[in-house]
Amino acid sequence: MRIVIHNLTKEFEKGESTLRALGGVSLEVRDREFFGIIGPTGCGKTTLLHIIAGLDSATTGSLEFVGEKRTQAMVSMVFQDSALMPWRNVEDNVPLGSEFRKEPPSVSKRIAGFFLEVVRMLDFGSAKPHELSGGMKQKVAIARALANDPEVIVMDEPFASLDAQTRLILREELLRIWERDKKTVILVTHNIEEAVMLCDRIAVMSASPGVVKCVLPVDVRRPRTIRSMSDPDFARCVDKIWEMLRDEVDRTMRHSRPSQ
Ligand SMILES: Nc1ncnc2c1ncn2[C@@H]1O[C@H](COP(=O)(O)OP(=O)(O)O)[C@@H](O)[C@H]1O
Ligand SMILES: [Mg+2]
Repeated sequence: MRIVIHNLTKEFEKGESTLRALGGVSLEVRDREFFGIIGPTGCGKTTLLHIIAGLDSATTGSLEFVGEKRTQAMVSMVFQDSALMPWRNVEDNVPLGSEFRKEPPSVSKRIAGFFLEVVRMLDFGSAKPHELSGGMKQKVAIARALANDPEVIVMDEPFASLDAQTRLILREELLRIWERDKKTVILVTHNIEEAVMLCDRIAVMSASPGVVKCVLPVDVRRPRTIRSMSDPDFARCVDKIWEMLRDEVDRTMRHSRPSQ
């Protein structure tokens, strides 16, 4: 599923005034691509993902899904905090899509089992979300997104709230899963290394109102593991992205500094 976004803007009404969150975003995500978006806080990354996922609408501009099978893309979103239903156990959190499609419980159960196995969480099927660590919850959220069998998965800083080691492990897990049944993935992250480790290409966004400043290819060999981080190509790519991002982060910090 290819995604073509052209000159997309988003404005939020704030009392008398309007806040321009996206200032004309144009980009194209290729079929089965792992596409990264990186940009300073407040530049509109979450807003853009919400629009792609159909949770919000653009003010102007166009968003088109181009695919072979379906005319309507199915997009699943993974949020920063897993957003699991606390009253349901893990196994019942995964097959929501199957429930919406009114498939029989036996089908939902089979789907849940299959995708919990994929994220190596099958042993925790009867646990409640509060019994899981942050990393485990995110794995369940990823299983839920996959179980929905979407054409596209969008992820909004899925590992941001996790500790450094758990992040590394989940990055590898996500790579393994993506290599298995390549879907089109859009990943928003603050972390440059994370973007380089996972993505085929990375869009760097400008400070608010966000536009795409540039799209950089990641020339690091696949399959990638934690060891890829010591590859000279990896370091070169991190440098290049930081060079593009630095001014935007500076601009954001200058604007958010409290006045004396
Ligand atoms: N529902 C909303 N109503 C009003 N303003 C919003 C809403 N969502 C986001 N914004 C504003 O839009 C801008 C971009 O926000 P967001 O997309 O969350 O940025 P990012 O994810 O890049 O940090 C921010 O200034 C934010 O306050
Ligand atoms: Mg955000």
